[in-house]
Amino acid sequence: MENIKYQFLQLQNKVCVITGAASIRSIGYGTAELFAAHGAKLVILDLVMNEQIANDLTKHLETQIGKKTEIICLQCDVRSTTACDDAIQKAVAHFGTIDCLVNCAGIVKSEGMLSINEQDYDLIMDVNLKGTFNICKSVLKVFAEKQAGVIVNLASLAGQRGGGLVGGSHYAASKGGVISLTRSIAREFAPMNIRANVICPAMIETPMLDGLSEEQLNNVVVGIPLRRVGKTAELAGACLFLASDLSGFVTGATIDVNGGIHIH
Ligand SMILES: NC(=O)c1ccc[n+]([C@@H]2O[C@H](COP(=O)([O-])OP(=O)(O)OC[C@H]3O[C@@H](n4cnc5c(N)ncnc54)[C@H](O)[C@@H]3O)[C@@H](O)[C@H]2O)c1
Repeated sequence: MENIKYQFLQLQNKVCVITGAASIRSIGYGTAELFAAHGAKLVILDLVMNEQIANDLTKHLETQIGKKTEIICLQCDVRSTTACDDAIQKAVAHFGTIDCLVNCAGIVKSEGMLSINEQDYDLIMDVNLKGTFNICKSVLKVFAEKQAGVIVNLASLAGQRGGGLVGGSHYAASKGGVISLTRSIAREFAPMNIRANVICPAMIETPMLDGLSEEQLNNVVVGIPLRRVGKTAELAGACLFLASDLSGFVTGATIDVNGGIHIH
């Protein structure tokens, strides 16, 4: 048997781009923190990124993990192809390459089908599906050239079972699209040594759940077999697995992080 070298820092010196990580309470930030603890160099992209947020985020992250981290934070609206290309070019100019992309940028709206107007439909699709497509495409140009890379996309339970918990049908459809997009990327780019997998979370404690009343939240929690909402660190753990060599033979997979609410 070939000798296995055990590695305790799973992303040592890997350049990881994470979208949608401006809020300390977000899945994107939780993932950034865990990745930094595992030695990653970080490129954080977010629509609302500015100098103040970047400074606060970096300070918080370094305090949490107890060490300095190589990190750049850039404002980027993933709806724009040129903004995505520009941000990725800046990341490559700064770090020399990119090894991994985790897409957490996303928005949710809870509306019944008949209340969804065209503007809201376009917004949800543009951010969640087109935004994921755009940033994947920008990064895949880099990955294709080096014949290596890893993508982790964030979809949702809503995309698997047809909405119902938080998002409306437009949100569910956008996330169904993300699952399908990820599988297509996995199939097309696997021969280039590029992996792509998708995570379907449900009920992770972030600002995305702020719109729910305590009663609504409790009603959902009783239906979760683990009887609680999830932590961003628990979602980050799944991202670490998929971003690192631990999952070297996993591509095109859909990983559930949902407390058992959808067992299938
Ligand atoms: N929290 C949950 O329970 C849950 C459940 C299912 C799926 N998800 C998915 O996980 C991902 C992360 O969710 P979260 O709960 O951390 O949400 P969050 O609202 O805390 O973070 C989302 C981030 O995306 C950024 N963003 C929004 N539009 C953007 C744009 N156009 N360009 C760049 N950045 C943009 C926001 O500024 C924000 O920082 C989302 O895709 C979400 O749909 C979350």
